[in-house]
Amino acid sequence: MRSSSIAGLGHYLPHETISNRDLETLVDTSDQWITTRTGIQSRHRAAVSEATSDLAIEASRRALADAELEAETIDLILLATATPDAPVPSTASLVQDALGIYNAGAMDLNAGCSGFLYGLHTADAFIRAGAAKRVLLVGSETLTRVTDYTDRRTCVLFGDGAGACVISDEGQMKLLYSGIGSDGSQADLICIPAGGSRFPASAETIASHQHYLQLDGGRVFKQAVRRMVQAAKDGLEATGLDASDISWVIPHQANARILTAVGEQIGIAIPKVVIDVAQTGNTSAASVPIALDRARETGQFERGQLIMLLAFGAGLTWACQILRYDGPSSI
Ligand code: UT7
Repeated sequence: MRSSSIAGLGHYLPHETISNRDLETLVDTSDQWITTRTGIQSRHRAAVSEATSDLAIEASRRALADAELEAETIDLILLATATPDAPVPSTASLVQDALGIYNAGAMDLNAGCSGFLYGLHTADAFIRAGAAKRVLLVGSETLTRVTDYTDRRTCVLFGDGAGACVISDEGQMKLLYSGIGSDGSQADLICIPAGGSRFPASAETIASHQHYLQLDGGRVFKQAVRRMVQAAKDGLEATGLDASDISWVIPHQANARILTAVGEQIGIAIPKVVIDVAQTGNTSAASVPIALDRARETGQFERGQLIMLLAFGAGLTWACQILRYDGPSSI
């Protein structure tokens, strides 16, 4: 029976940053409000010349180097994003060309902030079915391009970044469990209303800010906690594990308060629940691989430890994965 492992990891954060103080000059907010309500102090912003594919390419190069693999050994590229370079073609194909990965299929995948975990679920299915041997999975976002910097309820939250991994049947983090879910009846809680087939771009949609990301913060907060807690419980039940067996939880980095509440309800305390939102903000599909790579870089993972990934996002969507860390105990 084939199985999937993460064989290499990498991430990229653009150099420019937007601090809470910078936001104070744009909207009626304060560093204190943002820090206490979200845990975010700063977020990265892609340069004018950088698009989602550029971030993805850099993160992918780092993941391939970490896996010590040549780009041409990849046979499938999955790119999770809600902010593609353009609706057509897929951003994954642009990454494929830039990296010279000539014998691979390439496609984008949109599951909002759960996109990376949905991508891992998909990659695992390809590998176990024998339809792919080595998958390059990228979560890459330029959310600052769809953020309304006149709306204080949303503009303090989002940042840009990319995280990538190589998935194959041999690697440092073996996938033990993967579960995904969705509830489209609450699609309006997180959305970009215009720019698709329902409301194509028009002078009116632009004037009414319909191309920016809109969020019902309070309702999303409650759903995020509820769905991630349930996804985690489902994962523990399916594997016969107890919360005490999990050494690390790497959740989608939306808001430190959400992650604290999730940890409390599944019985895993901070710092085992990794909160990495302070310098990155919410990078949607990129947040889990960025946080996972940054946690690994601290050298805290030990061989044999179990790592739970958790995500929640637009759709609504949610997902949980459990990995066993088989890499070296410190870097
Ligand atoms: O990645 C997808 C998932 N996304 C999320 O998980 C986001 C989930 N939601 C959240 O993180 C939080 O709901 C927010 C951070 C968006 C908002 O925090 P909150 O504690 O839920 O605040 P609130 O929306 O209940 O607003 C409380 C007050 C309101 O003022 P009034 O009506 O009480 O006078 C808001 O207008 O805070 C006000 N407010 C702000 N004040 C200063 C909202 N945004 C700001 C702001 N600065 N940036």
